[in-house]
Amino acid sequence: MTEANEQEDARRKETVRIGGLDGQKVGGNFYEQVGGKPVFQKLAAEFYKGIAKDEVLRPMYPEGDLGPAAERLQMFLEQYWGGPTTYQELRGHPRLRMRHSPYKINPLARDRWLLHMRAAVDSLALPPLKDAELWAYLERAATSMLNTFED
Ligand code: HEM
Repeated sequence: MTEANEQEDARRKETVRIGGLDGQKVGGNFYEQVGGKPVFQKLAAEFYKGIAKDEVLRPMYPEGDLGPAAERLQMFLEQYWGGPTTYQELRGHPRLRMRHSPYKINPLARDRWLLHMRAAVDSLALPPLKDAELWAYLERAATSMLNTFED
């Protein structure tokens, strides 16, 4: 291959690999694509603003300060979507159903959790496909946390 060919080839590969239509870098996992830590921080913070005012859910959270709970949720979601694995390092295996077993999670609790989560996801104004992917997971995860059908 001539040097000119090589250069041309390298340029084309580069274009294919990193060039989005608007010239922005593409690639990376979901965590990176949506904007990394600040986005997950905002998601958890907005969600907990809703929890703080919720008559059904707020009493489930024992701590006066919801900050540490917001941080646990943030770390878990960051890890799930391909970000830092700090959650695992600090809290071990998630075992989320087990960790939620002390709380009464009936359909009402699930719906209220999702209501606040929907508002939090909206606040991120993600591109529609990213929003849909995140939301599908959250809905499924919330339903999997149900542990009673009693009031
Ligand atoms: C369906 C309704 C849900 C309710 C009512 C609920 C409620 C709670 C409560 C009361 C806690 C304890 C607060 C704390 O000390 O951290 C908690 C913890 C947590 N929840 Fe939920 N939750 C729900 C769904 C979910 C879902 C769908 C996820 C994940 C996608 C999730 C992720 C977490 C995490 C990561 C923690 C911290 C676990 C730990 O490391 O101790 N929760 N949740």
